[in-house]
Amino acid sequence: MSPATIVDRLVADFAARFGGAPEVVVRSPGRVNLIGDHTDYNDGLALAMAIERAVWVAARRRDDRVVHAESTSEPNPVRFGLDDLDRSRRGWGAYLEGVSHVLRDGLVGWDGLVTADLPIGAGLSSSAALELATARVFAELGGLGWDPRAMAEACRRAENEWVGMQSGILDQFSSALAEAGTAMLIDFADRSVRHVPLPEGVAVLVLDTSTRRGLVDSAYNARRAECRSAAEALGVESLREADPDQLGSLPMPERARARHVLTENEAVRGVVAAFEADDLAAAGRWFATSHRSLRHDYEVSTEALDVMVAAAEAAGCFGARLTGAGFGGSVVALAPANRAGAVLERAVAAFGEATDLPGTGFVAEPAGGTSVVVP
Ligand code: GLA
Repeated sequence: MSPATIVDRLVADFAARFGGAPEVVVRSPGRVNLIGDHTDYNDGLALAMAIERAVWVAARRRDDRVVHAESTSEPNPVRFGLDDLDRSRRGWGAYLEGVSHVLRDGLVGWDGLVTADLPIGAGLSSSAALELATARVFAELGGLGWDPRAMAEACRRAENEWVGMQSGILDQFSSALAEAGTAMLIDFADRSVRHVPLPEGVAVLVLDTSTRRGLVDSAYNARRAECRSAAEALGVESLREADPDQLGSLPMPERARARHVLTENEAVRGVVAAFEADDLAAAGRWFATSHRSLRHDYEVSTEALDVMVAAAEAAGCFGARLTGAGFGGSVVALAPANRAGAVLERAVAAFGEATDLPGTGFVAEPAGGTSVVVP
């Protein structure tokens, strides 16, 4: 379904549920991280892009301080008072309450309807998209103004302080700061962003293994703690600054975790240089290096992800790697633009034969960041 059709349906569905039109419809995109995973909380580098697939919220102000949100895909509505936030509530409402908690001032209550064409838990940042969309609704209805960096930081705090996932800022930055038509090189040490266009002959494939694992329950927070203890043992602020010659002094698994961060930062630089030189074969080799490092040193891959990577490579991609936190979810692959559809089909079919899992995929285009689509 096209974004315009999604918005038309959302507005009609809002009218059917709440009567009358929404005051505002906002959209916040998912993202695919091209390269640079588990680097954000180590002051490293990533090359990410927002994608057309997104979360949309249609909303209208209420005259009390209650948020009542329904979803086109979840059976139970979310309802809470802005003066009565409850940290023990879980599920998708926790993201809305977490954002209310961090924004705090100038909030107004609203009725809202949420829809998404972004698969949940697939490594495409559905949580950050929902957080930023919620923040944008509050900003529009409460007249808070929209500073995308400040809002990304606030939503990251919602994730850390409220939801309990000790994530870095990759997802929120990607969703909030993206510009259509270009990927973004993020340096997490100084928070700078440089837009990096994709070479003409390349298509970005997102290949979803259909396997899922809850991030909070996963080893994500444990990985983050291992990185912190490795940095402390090396006497550096962050693993970005670690000297590769010193890693031998670290015990395992800290040594391998630190090695991943160094390898991955180098791979990000390598892909950016390869894109700028239009050398897709070199970019693909960096993808392979990254996946090996995530698999063996960072230990966040799974059999399904490894099979999908191999299937993408065999189908004719320049390179493929798991994307996002890992432990399930999706693979990102670089394919020749003129054969993208056929390569995608071949990879998904080979994955299905090897695993009996219903893999899916799509070609991702670099999309713009969180925005107001109506009015
Ligand atoms: C998740 C987190 C991000 C980042 C990635 C891995 O998406 O939310 O902050 O750490 O994993 O790169």
